[in-house]
Amino acid sequence: MKVSAKAPGNIAFLKFWGKKDPSINIPENGSLSVCLDGIYSTTTVEFSKDYSEDEIIIDGDKKDRELDRIIKFLDRIRNLAGIKEKAKVVSNNNFPKSSGLASSASGFAALALASSKAAGLNLSEKELSILARHGSGSATRSIPDGFVEWLQGEDDQSSYAYSLFPPNHWNLSVVITIVNKNQKEITSTQGHARVHTSPFYQLRIQQMPEKIERMKQYIKERDIQKFGQLLEEECLNFTSISLTTTPYMLYLEPVTIRIMKYCLKLREEGLTSYYTLDAGPQPVIYCLGKDAPTIAKRIQNLEGVEKTIICKPTHGARLVNTHLF
Ligand code: DP6
Repeated sequence: MKVSAKAPGNIAFLKFWGKKDPSINIPENGSLSVCLDGIYSTTTVEFSKDYSEDEIIIDGDKKDRELDRIIKFLDRIRNLAGIKEKAKVVSNNNFPKSSGLASSASGFAALALASSKAAGLNLSEKELSILARHGSGSATRSIPDGFVEWLQGEDDQSSYAYSLFPPNHWNLSVVITIVNKNQKEITSTQGHARVHTSPFYQLRIQQMPEKIERMKQYIKERDIQKFGQLLEEECLNFTSISLTTTPYMLYLEPVTIRIMKYCLKLREEGLTSYYTLDAGPQPVIYCLGKDAPTIAKRIQNLEGVEKTIICKPTHGARLVNTHLF
């Protein structure tokens, strides 16, 4: 039986940077994010005796660098469901993959839902979130709806994400800015393994629980100024860790910094515009929905900007009826 699912990307407000147990993706800290409608993966899975080996096609490509990780994930599903059949998996992203734009989050969330159903499993949201986490940590946050908290947890069953608020809780928008479509040099998985070498890392971890509580409060109160200030502080904290590991990880491009500074200029003009970054050069600007078209237009005109994508909060992974093969 073919099953297809669609899952959104999510960009964290307070980030997952470092793993306590890399073998099952238990993070060093909890994190907060929102599911975004403009960046998503659609995935179709079929297990069948007709396949002699797993066949995986991502964005039309059979040689994706995630191949081993996906096969390992399919093995987990086969184990859980007690089946032996190999699978065909076809997955498409509507945005450049592995460029620091959450493709592993949407990809593994869609794969978790489609492959578990295709294998005959009927998992709860929590079980799906745990399962997705095994594929990629951030995928755990692309299962629940809207504004999401990933509870750090201490073992497999206690580390999962749940919805704090539905997508319509707050008319927040995101302007994703694509400045460099090349796949990034240091993957997030490699980054997580290196953060412990930063002399500032333990302080980051100590401060995180208090920041999570504060950020949840700002989201609850829909306080864009306080939310934005903490968002940017976290972006710079996260970046400082990356810059001070051995060897260091320099994700920033000159255009990244130009856009970060441009956000401050837009604020002086009265627009709500607050930046964050993931493990890549693409600035992501959080703003109120009313300001998004103006901000996107202004950013689009800057040198070095290839494309902007305006996103709104959305629901998590869902089954869909259209199959990709
Ligand atoms: C910087 O979830 O991509 O985007 O578990 O190794 O697949 P793996 O890592 P991944 O890490 C995401 C890191 C981040 C911050 C975040 O999304 O919270």
